[in-house]
Formats: sequence, structure tokens, C-alpha cells
Amino acid sequence: MLFDAIRNGTNYKKYVNGAWQATQTTIPILSPIDGAELGGMPAMTRTEVDDAIASCVAAQKPWARKSLYERGDILLQGAQLLRANAPEIADLLTREIAKDHKSCLLEVTRTADLIQATVEQGKALVGEVVQGGVLDADTRHKTALVTRVPYGVVLAVSPFNYPINLAASKIAPALLMGNSVAFKPSTQGSLSALHLVRCLEQGGLPAGVLCTITGEGSVVGPHMMAHPDIALINFTGSTGVGQKIAKGSGMIPLVMELGGKDPAIILPDADLARAVPHIIGGAFGYAGQRCTAIKRVIAVGDTADRLVPLLQQAMADIPVGNPFDDPLVTPLISKKAADYVQSLIDDARAKGADVYTTGKRQGNLLYPTLCDHVTEDMALAHEEPFGPVLPVLRVSDTAEAVALANRSEYGLQASVFGRDVDVLLDVAEQLDAGTINLNGKTERGPDNFPFLGTKNSGIGVQGIRYALEASSQLKSIVIHRG
Ligand code: G3H
Repeated sequence: MLFDAIRNGTNYKKYVNGAWQATQTTIPILSPIDGAELGGMPAMTRTEVDDAIASCVAAQKPWARKSLYERGDILLQGAQLLRANAPEIADLLTREIAKDHKSCLLEVTRTADLIQATVEQGKALVGEVVQGGVLDADTRHKTALVTRVPYGVVLAVSPFNYPINLAASKIAPALLMGNSVAFKPSTQGSLSALHLVRCLEQGGLPAGVLCTITGEGSVVGPHMMAHPDIALINFTGSTGVGQKIAKGSGMIPLVMELGGKDPAIILPDADLARAVPHIIGGAFGYAGQRCTAIKRVIAVGDTADRLVPLLQQAMADIPVGNPFDDPLVTPLISKKAADYVQSLIDDARAKGADVYTTGKRQGNLLYPTLCDHVTEDMALAHEEPFGPVLPVLRVSDTAEAVALANRSEYGLQASVFGRDVDVLLDVAEQLDAGTINLNGKTERGPDNFPFLGTKNSGIGVQGIRYALEASSQLKSIVIHRG
């Protein structure tokens, strides 16, 4: 019932200036599970994008004039609707992005929690008073009142793998801090994302405060990112697109979470019984389609001789198949994605890697694959597969492991498994990545942790409080006495 308004038959509508409106053309969204058509996503034109952003501009200042508590109450209403409708949204999410149903349900409820925590933490954000006379006694008569103000219109661009969570983690802090938001979901995942928008809208957002931009990336992408009324872009997606955004957007602040090649470094004294489930879950969860997936194992000394058989054993039990049966490995988002992963495996095999797999493939459903004795001349050693394949690289000592881990264009996260705390901390200090996990898999959550990448893995910091700070700018008002 709640979602009837966002559809016209099987075609979905755009949400612009407080109204759900049909577009002239739509793009069919097919399920990666079985190719079934799930609905038509609105294919907006550049003029429609301009109209959407114009309504965001008009709505922003009145929205910012409301109290933070008032904005927060509206977001909380939206979160409540999201929670109440979690089963229906999770169902569509499962069909649309082929993530296991349990994780889809969790994504929706986790997002309601995230919005709630965003509002709570936003209420605790206070300005500060900075006194003069510190560096120079003659400035004692000056006092700075430092406050947080919105940027204006934020462009939020979310990826296919978390259409609800990674959308709300951008939209909620931006709105709470008084920005309006033009929201561009990834094409695959957009139908689910429109459900999130509907929940937020029904929470009581004034017209124009949140608008959707959907359509062919080649049509709307360059246009929206270079739009003069966009004041900040918060993007999650590939490094390639992130680099285009950085080039095309001019001098505006960017928050970007991009690709990764997260290593799991296995030190000689590691507890392998503990490490194996982390490696399996980290590498193969959602078929490896997570920027924070473990994308390479770097085994020190003779560790690999003991680790690889254990991984092989564990891999035999990995459930694979239909997302509604809650397996670990599900069909990849597209056949193109599966072909790419396959090409990396083929290249590694041709160059001498030992490949362990059932070898089974059904369309875009790839079975988990382990490649041992991977060397740096193989693309799998440095490319990001975004699929269920895990390379093992063998090194002779810890220093070599650190050097190999850092010899990457990416620096999102890393895991280190070992028993000696001093060594663990020493390795963590030397690794060039945003987050280092000690004796645990790489992952973003919980949502209040800072989430960031170095090098080509990103710019800026996300995570509830950090996202609130990133979505607002400091403004200093200086009082001169006497
Ligand atoms: O794909 C990128 C996501 O930020 C990864 O999030 O670690 O919760 O799976 P996750």
C-alpha cells in the first residue's frame, strides 16, 4: 500500500519537488537471479535533472532554518516506516541485487538503526568558542564562535551492493545537518532505493528537500556531477568513476568510498582455526561483492602450507545458490561481472597458479575459487575481482608481507592474524590503509566506526559522527571587543 504511489503499473516514478512523477521513458531492471523483469526505472533527461536540483536549491534554506530536532524527528519517522516495511523492502532487495535474503533484511533494519543513531549523535554536535590571546597577547580581544552549517545541495550517489544502507548513510547526515539532497542510486538497486526515499518522504520531508535522479549513467552522470548548484558529492562506487567525479566536479568537497584490495596477512603464529572462518566470510560473503571483502591472503613463511588445506576444507561447505535460501555465495550482479572474475581466474591458471574450485558456473553464478601460489605478474594479485575468488600469495617474512600489502593502488582496509600483540600493532602501524583489523575480517560496520580509505580507495571519512561532520562545514564568527 505504502509503495503504490511510487509506481505506475510496473514502472517506477521519480521523486522531485515533493511529488512522485512518471517519466517518459524507463529502463527495465532485471533480477540477477533469473532475469525476471522487476520494473522500469525512470530514465531522466538532463532537463529533468536540472529541475530536480532546482527544487533542492529552493527547498534547502527553509529546511536549514528548522531546528535540528525538527529535522531529526522527520528522519526518525522515516526510519520507523523503513523498519515497519522491512520484509517487503528486503524481498525486493533480494530480487534486485541477489544478496542473500537474511542480509537484505538486516540491511534494512541496520539502516533504520543507523538513521536513529545519526539523529542522536547529531543532537550532541555542538559548536565551540575559541579564544584569542593564545599565540599573540594582542589578540586577546577576539573570540571566535565556531558553528556548523550546511553546504547546500548534496549529491548522494550510492552503489548496487547496499542500495538502502549506503544511500541512507549519505542522505540522513546530510539532511540532518540542513542540506537538501539530490540522490542518485545505482541503476541496479534503484527500485529498492526508491522505497527508502518513499519511507523518508512519508516521514514528513518538505517538498524538494530530497529528490531522486535516476537514468543512464552516461546521460545523467557527467551532467549532475558538474552541476553548478551541487555543493558536495558523497559517492560510493568504483575507483574509475570516482576519478571521473574528481576531475569533473571542480573545486567542491568530495567524500568517496572507492575500490579495495584488502589483504589478510597471516603471520606464522596465527591461530588458523580462528582465521579460517574470518577469511571465508570476509572473502566470499555476498560472493565477494563488497569493497571491504578480503581480496588477497598474504601468508608468511610456511603458513600457507597449513592454511590452504584448511581453506579448501572450509570452502567445500560454502553454501552456493538462490539468495532466498540464504547461501554465502549468490549469483553475481551481471554476466559481465562474472565474465571478468572468470578472466582473472583463467589468467592466474595460465600463469601457473594452483586453482581449487568445483569449476562450476551457471550464467552469472560462479562457485567459490581459491588460487594458491599467485604471483604479482597475475592480474588477480592486484585487480579487484568483486567476485568469489581468493588468491593466496606466499612471502618469506613479515617485512615482505607489509611491502606486498602496501604495493597496491588501494588502501581501504587490511586484516592481520597473529598472536603476538607487539608484532600485530607494529604491522598495523606500517600498513597503508584506512582501517586495520587485528584477528578479524575486514568490514565497514558497525556503522559508528570511522570508515575511510587511503590512496585510490577514497577521500574523506564516513561513519555516523564522521559523516555528520563531513556533511557540514565550520563557520567562524569572530567578535572583536573593545
Ligand atoms: O562495498 C562497500 C561497503 O561499504 C562494504 O560494507 O563491510 O558492511 O560489507 P560492509
